[in-house]
Amino acid sequence: MKGHVCKVCGYIAINGSAPDNCPVCGAPKASFQKKDAINTPADPKNLTEGDKKHVPVITILRKCGLIPEGCVDAHVKMGQILHPMQPQHYINHIDFYLDKEFIARVHLTPEKLNPAAALHLKASSGKLAAIEFCTVHGAWINDVEL
Ligand SMILES: [Fe+2]
Repeated sequence: MKGHVCKVCGYIAINGSAPDNCPVCGAPKASFQKKDAINTPADPKNLTEGDKKHVPVITILRKCGLIPEGCVDAHVKMGQILHPMQPQHYINHIDFYLDKEFIARVHLTPEKLNPAAALHLKASSGKLAAIEFCTVHGAWINDVEL
C-alpha cells in the first residue's frame, strides 16, 4: 500500500498527499516521498505467521475506566501472535489515524514493554487506523470503524 513517507521520522501520510509539515517531526513537504511503504497480507483470508505477528489487532472498548464520560478506548497489539520485543527486532512505534488524519504516535522500547498501546478517543465514530513499525519487517496497517 502506498503512502507519502517522511524521510526524517518514518511517518506515513495515508490521505493521498504529503502534508506541508510532518505532524510527527515537523519536516517540510520536500522531505516526503511517495512509495509503496505499508505491508499488507498477500492473502487476507490465509494469513502467514509473519502476517499474524505484524498486522495490528485493534479492539474498541466503549467503556473507559479512566475517563467516565465521552471516552472510547482503542487498544492495539501486535499481533494475533505476539510480536517479539528484542534489542534488534521490535515494534518501534505505532501511529494512529482517525479518518486518515494523524492523531497520535506511541514510541516503544523493547526491554520493558509489550508490543501494544491504548488511546482514549473523544470521537465515537469514524475509521481508526493503526500503522506499526517493526525494526526488521517495516510498516503494517489495520483499521476499524468506531
Ligand atoms: Fe517483525
